[in-house]
Amino acid sequence: MTTHNAVPKYNHFLDLSDLTTEQAQSIIANAKRLKAEIQGRPHGTVHPERPLQDITLAMIFEKPSTRTRVSFEMAIHQLGGNSLVLQGGDTQLGRGETVADTSRVLSRFVDAIMLRAREHDALLEMARTGSVPVINALTNWSHPCQIMADVLTYEEHRGSIKDKIVAWSGDGNNVAVSWIHAAVLFECELRLACPPEYLPPQEALDWAEARGGRITVTQDPSAAAKDCDLMITDTWVSMGDTNAEERLSTLAPYQVNEALMALAKDDALFMHCLPAHREEEVTTGVIDGPQSVIWDEAENRLHAQKAILMWCLGK
Ligand code: CP
Ligand code: NVA
Repeated sequence: MTTHNAVPKYNHFLDLSDLTTEQAQSIIANAKRLKAEIQGRPHGTVHPERPLQDITLAMIFEKPSTRTRVSFEMAIHQLGGNSLVLQGGDTQLGRGETVADTSRVLSRFVDAIMLRAREHDALLEMARTGSVPVINALTNWSHPCQIMADVLTYEEHRGSIKDKIVAWSGDGNNVAVSWIHAAVLFECELRLACPPEYLPPQEALDWAEARGGRITVTQDPSAAAKDCDLMITDTWVSMGDTNAEERLSTLAPYQVNEALMALAKDDALFMHCLPAHREEEVTTGVIDGPQSVIWDEAENRLHAQKAILMWCLGK
């Protein structure tokens, strides 16, 4: 009898909507601790307790990545574990082997799977059919790891995000969906300014409304930005989007520029998950300006994901 799984009890990290407020807050608190523990040390420093010693994470990418790939590789390294990177197209997935068969096989080799998938359903299938924790590293539906890093970043700079006003101007995309989930979880107000063509999915808004989320959708970026504590945007053309020209023109009025930032609170922060397109969704003056915390936000992918990995593996 094969005993292939050394991880008897684990959690998937598929969407923030699966977490309780307490779970999300404890992951953020652990991320803060893990960050402090190796502050000022070389990036290759392993946390002294090696909490994920002997654990191997497989990372599957069906779409390109810079931050997610490097931060997850460094995260598992810093926790004392190992990683291997699989480009989806280079595996038998690219030749039609099913997600379910892939998941069952990988579960015999590795202790956790991180998947950046074209289709959210593939992520859910991976989680359903394997026997190790599965982490959402971005799908067409959501990007929960990113928003854990965003919340960590906000709280480092300004304290608790609870009851703060978060404004989003631009495409109601996968990152916006995870912010909708986060607004409920972390109890902040979220105002989304999106054109009618690119509204966030109604399913996410309904989920939030059923849980008392303070979320408004407007076509007026100024109304969203007024007195906000945090202004966020993302690319107007996400990976997999095909109608780039049409998107750039429809979303143009939603650009985050100096005039829009002037409506926010004086101490408001600006965030962008990156990669950014300067002078499209955000002006150079804003993204490289004094309110922008994008480099801290990018770095915090590493620390947030260490905490996510530990939570997934029951540590
Ligand atoms: N923000 C983010 O997920 O970046 P990558 O696409 O580079 O991983
Ligand atoms: N919305 C973007 C996020 C990239 C990190 C995309 O899906 O391409």
